[in-house]
Amino acid sequence: MAQAHPKPGLRPFLPADVPVLAAIFAASIAELTGDDYSEAQQEAWMAAAEDEEFGKRLAADLTLIATLEGSPVGFASLRGNDHIHMLYVHPAVAGQGIATMLVDALEKLAGGRGAQSLSVDASDTAQGFFAKRGYTAQQRNSVTINDEWLANTTMKKALGAGQ
Ligand SMILES: CC(C)(COP(=O)(O)OP(=O)(O)OC[C@H]1O[C@@H](n2cnc3c(N)ncnc32)[C@H](O)[C@@H]1OP(=O)(O)O)[C@@H](O)C(=O)NCCC(=O)NCCS
Repeated sequence: MAQAHPKPGLRPFLPADVPVLAAIFAASIAELTGDDYSEAQQEAWMAAAEDEEFGKRLAADLTLIATLEGSPVGFASLRGNDHIHMLYVHPAVAGQGIATMLVDALEKLAGGRGAQSLSVDASDTAQGFFAKRGYTAQQRNSVTINDEWLANTTMKKALGAGQ
């Protein structure tokens, strides 16, 4: 019988996850970033999942998948030992602590790899989430994705002994 409040799980990325992660990526951008980015910017950003580099990067980075009742609902990736490269949560489960669980795990993994701090180029949508976790803004960036300019903010957090 399905639980009323299924407990989220975490597992490592598998190559077969790429299509479902591409769908989560697109849905998350389409439904969660509209207050911060124009439609043209959202479309250019979403199209990045159609590139074969998308799956290659997930495989090259340390990518974790959050699941609910066994199905992927979000993912996050650690590049090297000290940079969060991706963090996307399906809009149907936004605000339920999925990103918190993913970033908690990446912070522990980064600490375990010897990182003193963790950085992220946070979207304007995710900036509040990271600020709440103690990340501070370092610099504003503009990146081109599929001929559209998108702004983000490099944010950084020191990883304490307790991480
Ligand atoms: C940003 C994102 C990953 C947050 O995922 P989520 O699973 O909804 O986050 P959580 O439920 O773990 O939120 C944890 C806390 O951060 C807060 N928070 C979440 N998104 C926030 C936002 N955009 N602004 C401010 N606070 C936010 C929540 O209110 C919650 O606070 P609480 O603990 O006091 O209730 C999700 O909105 C997303 O996928 N956005 C679109 C893609 C994107 O921009 N990715 C980032 C690329 S760097």
